[in-house]
This record gives sequence, C-alpha cells and structure tokens, in this order.
Amino acid sequence: MAEVDPSETLSGVRTGPFVVGERVSLTDPKGRRHSLLLSPGGAFHTTKGRISHDDLIGAAEGSVVYSAGGVAYLAFRQLLEEFTVTMPRGAAVVYPKDAAHILVQTDIFPGARVLEAGAGSGALTMFLLRAVGPTGRVYSYERRADFAAIAARNVETFFGAPHPSWTLRVGDLVDAIGPEPIDRAVLDMLAPWECVDAVAGVLQPGGLLCCYVATTTQLGRTVETLRVHGGFTEPDAREYSARDWHAQGLAIRPGHSTSGHTGFLIFARRLAPGVTTPARRRRPAPGAYGSDYTGPRPTWAGPVDADVVDPEPVSP
Ligand SMILES: C[S@@+](CC[C@H](N)C(=O)[O-])C[C@H]1O[C@@H](n2cnc3c(N)ncnc32)[C@H](O)[C@@H]1O
Repeated sequence: MAEVDPSETLSGVRTGPFVVGERVSLTDPKGRRHSLLLSPGGAFHTTKGRISHDDLIGAAEGSVVYSAGGVAYLAFRQLLEEFTVTMPRGAAVVYPKDAAHILVQTDIFPGARVLEAGAGSGALTMFLLRAVGPTGRVYSYERRADFAAIAARNVETFFGAPHPSWTLRVGDLVDAIGPEPIDRAVLDMLAPWECVDAVAGVLQPGGLLCCYVATTTQLGRTVETLRVHGGFTEPDAREYSARDWHAQGLAIRPGHSTSGHTGFLIFARRLAPGVTTPARRRRPAPGAYGSDYTGPRPTWAGPVDADVVDPEPVSP
C-alpha cells in the first residue's frame, strides 16, 4: 500500500486517493467533523458502529463511507484553515478570516522575506509559508520555548516535513532579531509597540508592517508608537468580521455561527531612510491628546492642553 511521501508536501496539499498515514476528516449527517489517521486494518468507532480505515485507503477524496450501522460520512483531507483551528495549541491562534486579510493587506508575495512574532502555535506561520513559497523565507520568533516546540510540531505535521523556507528562533524579538533585510513583518503579540524600533531596523523602505492586537488599548498604543517613531506612514487600523448565511428555498437569513470579535489589524509602510512622516494636515479630534491622555505623543498633537487650545499641526 502507498505511503505518504513528505517530499511532495511543500504546500501541505496532497491529491489523489487516500494513503496510509494521512489524516482524513469525516463529516457526519449533522455536519460534525471527526478526524482520523489512516492505518491498515484500523477502525474509527462511532455511536452508529465502526468505520474501517481500509474502506478509505485507496478511495478518492470526496468519497462516502458507511459505519457498520449504515450512517454515511463524507471523507475529505483537512484544509489548512481547518487544520489551524483544530491542531494542538499553546497560544491562541490567528483566525482564518484575519489570516486571509493579513496576507492580502500586508501584500505577502512569492519570494518575500517575512518576519513574524510571536510564532505562538504556528497558525499564521503556515499561511505565511504557503504564500511565500519555496523561494521565500519566513523568520519566526517566539520567546516561549514550549510554544515554539508546539509551532514546530504543527508546521511539520501539516507540511509533512520540516519546511525548508522556515527559520524559527526562540527568544524575545527585540534581543533575537537577525540582521536579514525584511520585506514584510507581522507582529501578533501582547506589546507590539516594544518591537517597533527593532522591526524598523530591518524592514526595507516600502515594506509593510502589520500588528494584530485583541484590545482597543493595545490598538491605541501601537498606532501612537508608530506615529511617534516617524519612519512609517500614518497607521491604518481595521477590524474584519465574517457572517455565515443560511440559504434554503425562501428561508435566507444570517446563520447562527457568525464569529465574534477576534482582533484588530494595524498596517503601516516603512519610509525611506532618514525620512519622517510629513505633518498631518488635519487637526486631532478635540480632547484626543488632552490632559487625560498619557500615551506616546506625536509632535503634531501639540502641547498637553490640546483640548483647551487647538494647535496648528507642527512640522517635524
Ligand atoms: C497570540 S500568540 C501568536 C499566535 C500565532 N500568531 C498563531 O497564529 O499561532 C502570541 C505569542 O507571542 C509570543 N510573544 C509575545 N511577545 C513576544 C516577543 N517580544 N518576542 C517573541 N515572542 C513574543 C508569546 O509567547 C505568544 O506565544
């Protein structure tokens, strides 16, 4: 019987009939998914009887198998999106809807040199590796050795072998950052503002930085730090939501499984060496940088009593 060939798995995608050693996803009539690893003579036990692995080995993807009790199960390989939300995790993962926007808005391209921190459970790492392809490079940093080990295991499981385009470094990004020039950077961590200087040192002019944060306070601190740094374009902060729809005959309505808040995405581009962000033409909102505001302060925000006297923008 054919075995899985890791050398063909750089994308993590396999085609053709199911083979021994592959993970297969079975969907029952209620839409519930079950995952199993194919072994000769193996069995998957359900409340409606056993399913023989031998019925799946050699079958085409999209086949139907029956339990001993006659219940039909649809068999497919897991997609990367399913794998990232079901794989073992240490840290919380980037959800597929956000990963999709990160890839597009950060303009990740084949051959790109991408910096990522923290690696966490490796979910975003896998999307990045797919997008940069064999000619690109992903440098991932993770300060927790136990999380780095989980990420490495997940990446290897999905791609079937250690990915040749991946460098994983254990350590705090600020201390462990390598000298390599970087085209794109994605920070998914508690305090991305602490890493802005370090990333700015390696991000090439025109390169993009994306920060993924969970709360509005992190969002504000990240945006203001990028402004104060001065070597980035005006940050662009966004949240994306996704809504499922139920469509059956005349019953067309939003589904029940709409995802709630996951995170905010902040994007900015690196300016040329020595260039600082031109002064803003628009005044800050009244009180935005008033006496209650204690965070990083862009020069154009004016003095602390900006909510009393509305200042003209100050050129850097
Ligand atoms: C939310 S998780 C990242 C999840 C990951 N993007 C994924 O999709 O699986 C945040 C990770 O950042 C790591 N981290 C936080 N600050 C860091 C830093 N300064 N340098 C390196 N890793 C850091 C944490 O240990 C944690 O594992």
